[in-house]
Amino acid sequence: MKGIILAGGTGSRLFPCTKVTNKHLLPVYDRPMIYYPIQTLVEAGITDIMIVSGKGHAGHFLELLSSGHEFGASFSYGVQEEPGGIAQALGLCEDFADEDKVVVILGDNILEDNISQAVKDFEVQEKGAKIFLKEVEDPRSFGVAEIDGDNIVSIEEKPEQPKSNYAVIGCYMFDNTVWEVLKTLKPSARGELEITDVNNHFVEKGEMTYDILSGWWGDGGESFDSLLHAANLVARKKN
Ligand code: G1P
Repeated sequence: MKGIILAGGTGSRLFPCTKVTNKHLLPVYDRPMIYYPIQTLVEAGITDIMIVSGKGHAGHFLELLSSGHEFGASFSYGVQEEPGGIAQALGLCEDFADEDKVVVILGDNILEDNISQAVKDFEVQEKGAKIFLKEVEDPRSFGVAEIDGDNIVSIEEKPEQPKSNYAVIGCYMFDNTVWEVLKTLKPSARGELEITDVNNHFVEKGEMTYDILSGWWGDGGESFDSLLHAANLVARKKN
């Protein structure tokens, strides 16, 4: 399986800290944010990784992360010319994936859990996709899953009235049918190609499985409070 880290976007929710630099390079406690998703993939045995960032910042990633040798990994780089959403950035990775299944992680998502078992389970999953859920107090700024036993009924992106407290976290696994799904997407109200639309495609086909995270999860890029929260989680774990 191959790994993909999506680290584009304008980071407008963290202005002015992201006026010059990319949000995934901001510090979360003692390391740049993107180190955490790299670690999540590498610990799960995923070492062939493509990192997609935006124009203007791509060189910073290369400078910081280089070949990936330091992480025991091999990095490829992609550039999203204009911010157009997570699903659009993912579309740049089709050739890299080369028919393999992929694990996609957003560059601002920090997971305490080791996802090795989920990766192994997805390797033998016949087809489709797999996502991770985490119960949160207020899920309104995330994708929210409605579940019924082992099944996901639907996912809504940032609903005002969430149907559950299960946030869909920014780590997804897809088989090679995802590339055709991406080509059918239409921009959402916020003008982006949404990863939630991709996920719902697999939900509707009955090809979506999920795991619930047991450890903490932080979306460091959502707000200044979430950035601080993520840093505190990391600091508590280390100290
Ligand atoms: C994105 C996804 C959302 C997901 C979140 C996790 O939101 O669209 O479904 O719950 O990442 O971090 P964004 O951060 O782009 O607003």
